[in-house]
Amino acid sequence: MIRDREKTMACVYSMSTFLAIISILTLANAVKYEPNWKSLDSRPLPSWYDSSKIGIFLHWGVFSVPAFDGAWFWFYWRTQKAKKYVDFMKKNYPPNFTYADFAKNFRAEFYDPDEWANIFSASGARYVVLVSKHHEGFTLWPSKYSWNWNAKDVGPNRDLVGDLATAVRKKSLHFGMYHSLFEFYNPLYLQDKANHFKTQTFVENKAMPELYEIVNKYKPEVIWSDGDWEAKDTYWNSTNFLAWLYNESPVKDTVVTNDRWGSNTRCKHGGFWNCNDRFNPGKIIAHKWENCMTVDKQAWAYRRDVDLNDFYTIEELLGVLAETISCGGNLLLNVGPTADGRIVPIFEERLRQMGKWLEVNGEAIYDSKPWFKPQDNVTESTWYTTKSDGKSKTVYAIVLNWPKESANGYILSLGLPQPTTGTTVKMLGYENYFNYKPLQGGGINIDFPVIPFKKLPTTWAWVLKIEGLKNA
Ligand SMILES: *[C@@H]1O[C@H](CO)[C@@H](O)[C@H](O)[C@H]1NC(C)=O
Ligand SMILES: *[C@@H]1O[C@H](CO)[C@@H](O)[C@H](O)[C@H]1NC(C)=O
Repeated sequence: MIRDREKTMACVYSMSTFLAIISILTLANAVKYEPNWKSLDSRPLPSWYDSSKIGIFLHWGVFSVPAFDGAWFWFYWRTQKAKKYVDFMKKNYPPNFTYADFAKNFRAEFYDPDEWANIFSASGARYVVLVSKHHEGFTLWPSKYSWNWNAKDVGPNRDLVGDLATAVRKKSLHFGMYHSLFEFYNPLYLQDKANHFKTQTFVENKAMPELYEIVNKYKPEVIWSDGDWEAKDTYWNSTNFLAWLYNESPVKDTVVTNDRWGSNTRCKHGGFWNCNDRFNPGKIIAHKWENCMTVDKQAWAYRRDVDLNDFYTIEELLGVLAETISCGGNLLLNVGPTADGRIVPIFEERLRQMGKWLEVNGEAIYDSKPWFKPQDNVTESTWYTTKSDGKSKTVYAIVLNWPKESANGYILSLGLPQPTTGTTVKMLGYENYFNYKPLQGGGINIDFPVIPFKKLPTTWAWVLKIEGLKNA
C-alpha cells in the first residue's frame, strides 16, 4: 500500500515536472510580437540570413518591355515628361500608345526557371529575391487584387512567381519577394495621397491584401518591402502586418524582412537594414544590413541602351563583396531579366565568375563575422573577416590587389594583424604556407611566392587565411 502510494507520488512529481517543462517550452515558443516597433525590433533575425551573405535580386516587369533606361520608365515618361523618354516614344510607337499596351509584349517565351536557378546556384548566392510587383503595380503572380494587371491575365499567361519559387527551392536556395507598397498611378493610392494619407483605402484593398496573399501562397523567406517613402508606417499598417508575419504566418520562424515600412522606418526599424539603395557604409554597422546593388551600374531593370562600360567587372564586384561582408552586410546583387525571359550572357558571366571565386574563397565569406576593423590601414585594398571555432580565431584577409614587385619580391604589408611565433599564413586554394616577417611598429609583411599562372587559385582577388595571431 505504502509502496504503491510512493509510486503514485513519484509519478505525480515527475508528471508535474514534465508539465512545468512543457509550459516553459510553450512560453518560449509563444513569444507574441505586438504591433509596435519596440516589440517587432526585439525579434532575433533568423540566422540563415546572416550566414548566407549573398543573394540575387531580380527586377522584372512590364518595364522590361521597352527595356529603356530603367524600371521607372512610366514615371519618367508620363510624370517627369523627360525628353529622352518622350522622344523615344514619339520615335518608336504610335501616338496613342499607352504604358499598359506594353504588357501584351511581356511574353517570357524563353523563361526557364530551372535554368535561372542553375545560374543563381552556380553564382554562390544562397537566396533569391524576385521583384513580384514594382511601382507600376503589375503583379508577376495571378493576384486576386490586381485584376487584368498581372502576369497570368496579360502577357506571359503564367504564374512567374510560383514557377521561380519552385525552381529556386529545388536548388536549396531561399526564396524571397520584393513588393512595392505604393503604385505610381493606382487611383486608390492617388486618392489617399490627395487626402494627405488620412484615408487608407489603397492599403486596405490593395497593398495589405496582396502582402497576405503572397505570404500565404508562396511562403517567401524574405519580404523585401519598398515604395514606402511617401507615407508613414501608420498609413501602411506595417506593424500590424509584421506582427501577423512574425506570430502567425506560415513563415513566422524563418522569414526576414527589411526596413522599408514607411517614411520614418529606414535604417531604424524592421529586420535587416537596407537604408538606401547601394548602401555600403565602409565601416562596421552593428545592426544587420544589406547592400543591394546592380551589375549594370546605372539600372535595376534590363535595358537595351546599355554599353559594355556600364557593367561592373568581376574585379569591381568582388571589391564590393569584400567591403560589404567585412562591414557586416549581406550583398544582394541585381540583374534584370529580359521581357522574353532570359538572363543575358553578360549577367550570367558575372554571376558564374562570382561563383567560381566563392568555390575557392567561400570559407572567408559564408558564416563569417567582421573582424575588429574591416579594412587594413596600411594596404587599404585588403579587407578582413573572421571565424571562430570556440577555441581559436581565424582571420581572413581578402586581398584585392596582388602586391607590387619590389627588390625583396612581392611583399604585402598589413598593419592590423599582429603575428606571434605560432602564426601561419596560407592562401585559400594554394597548398604551401607563405613566409612572413613582423612589420616594424606592428603588423606583418607577407611574402607572396611566385606562383605559376596555372596554379593560381583565382585570378581576381585572393584570400589569406591567418591563424595564431596575437590580436585575433
Ligand atoms: C488618338 O486619340 C485621340 C483622342 O482620344 C483621337 O482623336 C485620335 O484619333 C487617336 N489617334 C490614333 C492614331 O488612334
Ligand atoms: C490594419 O491591420 C489590422 C490588423 O490586421 C486590421 O484589423 C485593419 O483593418 C488594418 N487596416 C487597414 C487600413 O488595412
